[in-house]
Amino acid sequence: MGRARMTWIGTSWKMNKTLAEARAFADGLVAARGAFDGVTAFVIPAHTAIAAVRERLPPDVPVLIGAQNAHWAPAGAYTGEVSMGMVADAGATLVEIGHSERREHFGETDDTVALKVEAAVAAGLTPLLCVGEPGAVRAAGREIDWVAGQVTRGLSRLAAGDLHEVVVAYEPVWAIGERGREPVTYEIAPVMETLSTGFGVRAVLYGGSVNRRNAAALLDVPGIDGLFVGRAAWDVADFLALVRIAAAGRHVGRPDAR
Ligand code: 13P
Repeated sequence: MGRARMTWIGTSWKMNKTLAEARAFADGLVAARGAFDGVTAFVIPAHTAIAAVRERLPPDVPVLIGAQNAHWAPAGAYTGEVSMGMVADAGATLVEIGHSERREHFGETDDTVALKVEAAVAAGLTPLLCVGEPGAVRAAGREIDWVAGQVTRGLSRLAAGDLHEVVVAYEPVWAIGERGREPVTYEIAPVMETLSTGFGVRAVLYGGSVNRRNAAALLDVPGIDGLFVGRAAWDVADFLALVRIAAAGRHVGRPDAR
């Protein structure tokens, strides 16, 4: 009999939170240290707050820390960038790669994403590869091809034996952020099925307008291993509410295939 799968619940703070705010969030996690049973929780601060959050979390609080981006080169003349090794040194064990906001505003391409995924694995970090189709692609019914293509190209520089290091987050662009719209579960189920069966990655998360009301239904979509949350988890009480939803509904009967 396999053990139950862990359910991932994570948040990226995007370009938010002072050091004081980041520490207060971390203190909330410490106070709730018993809440994480069965849940792989992660928090992705801005680079400035990674070390502060790491220092605030004792080793017995099982919350992973990530970075929102890092460069593929190990060091060098890349003003304004940080390397994979630097975010690891600051306390990150995960690194987000290819979020749609970075693809839209900062020129990320599938080529730079692939370089970063390769560099993350080489640095011992878990790449959190973000993919998702724009609204126009969804309207044309081409979302599965689009997303599968992004994942294929994003993983293209990894050896087959390293694919299980990667976590993929499916975040349709039309569902993300203030202008996003909540998905209906049947809109995302076929994409999740493709991602969870086709690539041999460690876990597949869903992100985009997740909140307390829709979290349980989203976690029930076959192939979803967890949720990646923005706005609805920036307050620590809201983040912990999502952790509790995941812990309570924990995927009974879904044996771990690995
Ligand atoms: P929202 O949950 O605010 O829609 O953002 C999702 C996201 O981009 C997480 O990376």
